[in-house]
Amino acid sequence: MTRNYSVAVLPGDGIGPEVVGAALTVLDAAEARYGFTTARAEYRAGAAHYRETGELFDVLEEELRGAQAILFGAMGDPSVAPGILERGFILEMRQRFAQAANVRPVRLYPGVASPITGLAPERCDMVIVRENTEGAYVGQGSTVHAGTPHTVAMQESLNTRAGIERVVDFSFRLAVSRRKRLTLCHKTNILVEAGKLWQEVVSEYAARYPEVETDYVHVDAMCFHLPLSPERFDVVVTDNLFGDIITDLGAVVQGGLGVATSANINLDESAPSMFEAIHGSAPDIAGKGWANPSGAILSLALMLGHLGEGEAAMAVEAAAVQVLGELPALSGAEMGATTGEVGERIAELVRSGNAEAGLVPDSLLGTLAALEPSRAETSGARPAR
Ligand code: NAI
Ligand code: MG
Repeated sequence: MTRNYSVAVLPGDGIGPEVVGAALTVLDAAEARYGFTTARAEYRAGAAHYRETGELFDVLEEELRGAQAILFGAMGDPSVAPGILERGFILEMRQRFAQAANVRPVRLYPGVASPITGLAPERCDMVIVRENTEGAYVGQGSTVHAGTPHTVAMQESLNTRAGIERVVDFSFRLAVSRRKRLTLCHKTNILVEAGKLWQEVVSEYAARYPEVETDYVHVDAMCFHLPLSPERFDVVVTDNLFGDIITDLGAVVQGGLGVATSANINLDESAPSMFEAIHGSAPDIAGKGWANPSGAILSLALMLGHLGEGEAAMAVEAAAVQVLGELPALSGAEMGATTGEVGERIAELVRSGNAEAGLVPDSLLGTLAALEPSRAETSGARPAR
């Protein structure tokens, strides 16, 4: 198999292009060091582009579909009404590309301060897998008697067995490659219909993966267990809405927006997966060089693992973690280096192979191995760009 990968790059708005630029510098270094190549195509998308053209995801869909992976910056600014880009681009991409698993590693890296007093890195290494295409985020609902004191708003949550199965199966495979522990997070005592289906599927798959220990935590209880005893969790699987909320909590615990990263994984090889830092376009600091590119660079590591370049992925993560630990602050002028300089330092460590060994325990390797699809033979099936 050739080690040339087609990557679509969507820098977006605000600090998106800044952090993606830093990630691409690191990608250049990884290619030079590990002997693979990427064919990159960059696309304009986001608030500025929407203002000029009115274009949303549908215009890019067919082009993007041909890529093996998408590297995404961030979208949005105050000039575009909330919801237009979120629904018209991001949710649309997740749905049409069946990016069914939103994967969020929650790791506290050495040298990164957590707001949880006394939390040590070895206690915080989990992956939250959020169902990414269903639940309350399908845009179903209705309003009756609008504009009257008797307005009724109904907002439904859609849960299909097939949709739950694919993300639960993925989560078990991930757990097998890690510490073999899977937690279902839901609210089965109140949302009994959806909860019953989720619990039923998890129990069924637990029997198929007997080596994985499973348990269950209500989402409200999760909000104190996750920050106070993160060591309790290895892989957490949850629905779209709960996942949206607890992953932000996870990001706080692991040191904040500059560090947290995510992958939107297509599980049936019908379309590309998408990789992004979890922060937004940060209009307040755009253009200042204050954005920390680590989240974007760690999303690049996830992308490399997904493409099958596990060794490069590990090296990028190790280098990013080393540089993170050396920064006096995680963002702003106090970071002591610009976005570009942080990217350069990380790239240099990747290029030279000099990242300190042992900073990152190797559990991400397991994460990546599971993310790595069995696509060695099938990747050629997608049209090359
Ligand atoms: P935000 O994540 O852009 O910024 C929140 C705060 O964190 C700001 O003070 C910002 O300066 C800081 N920050 C964010 N990323 C940082 C980084 N890498 N380094 C240092 N500091 C960083 O969230 P906000 O302000 O709520 O949203 C701004 C815009 O971004 C909105 O239009 C929103 O819709 C959009 N957004 C887009 C997302 C995406 O494209 N996936 C995700 C979240 C928000
Ligand atoms: Mg969110």
